[in-house]
Amino acid sequence: APAAGAGVRAERPTVIAHRGASSYAPENTLAAVDKAAELGVEWVENDVQRTKDGELVVIHDDNLKRTTDAEEVFPGRSPWKVKDFTAAEIARLDAGSWFGPEFAGARVPTLQQFLDRTESHRQKLLLEIKNPGLYPGIEQQILKVLGDEGWLDASHLAGRLIVQSFSADSVRAVHDLLPTVKTGFLGTPSVADLSRYAAFADQINPSYTTVSPGYVSSVHAFDGPHGGPLEVFTWTVNDADTARQVAGYGVDGIITNSPDVVRDAFPAA
Ligand code: G3P
Ligand code: CA
Repeated sequence: APAAGAGVRAERPTVIAHRGASSYAPENTLAAVDKAAELGVEWVENDVQRTKDGELVVIHDDNLKRTTDAEEVFPGRSPWKVKDFTAAEIARLDAGSWFGPEFAGARVPTLQQFLDRTESHRQKLLLEIKNPGLYPGIEQQILKVLGDEGWLDASHLAGRLIVQSFSADSVRAVHDLLPTVKTGFLGTPSVADLSRYAAFADQINPSYTTVSPGYVSSVHAFDGPHGGPLEVFTWTVNDADTARQVAGYGVDGIITNSPDVVRDAFPAA
């Protein structure tokens, strides 16, 4: 076997279940969290947005159509935006049947419910602030819920929580509000811009289609706000060959709908 060289990891990257184990259960539901736990996967990713009455909920799209039965339950409420529905209305929706009949009755979880479930499995959370431009002040609100739920204690801060977003402003806001929280920026900034990101983000999390060994090395060359090198968690890799390829590039984590497939792409540690 080739000797491990620059940018080549000796061990398996961290495996993160994208929207839960979303190849096997409806994304961003408690069933998807449970499935990740059943597969023995420690890290779960989710997407957080806000209802009309200010509740934080876990859902990917800015509208309810793809992953719930909102069009049937609330005809005439086009375009079915998350921000135009109350938490009580969203709680009535079926967020599982679209994926498979065995998941009928799955709900869009509140952030609180999602945190309770991941905590009950002793999982770790990569929390994405989705579409923050639609939800002014959501960063502070998310930190409040995390604190109320016990997710800002020393053990969670030390390695069980990362908050990420495609919005650099949102990531910076989280860092400024609570500098002890680890953060990630979703995207592929130019190498020339990395030093600016390193002031407020611990991770640079690019699409796997944009990563190369040189890019990963460039990111690793910067130290993040907590002292260590910037990390790279890449998305969304669902097959073993691509997982091995990006691991060879030196990425620290792989975000995947099929966490068992990615984990099993590497020899046991
Ligand atoms: O965690 C990375 C990935 O989730 C970003 O893209 O659209 O799936 O939220 P998206
Ligand atoms: Ca996401």
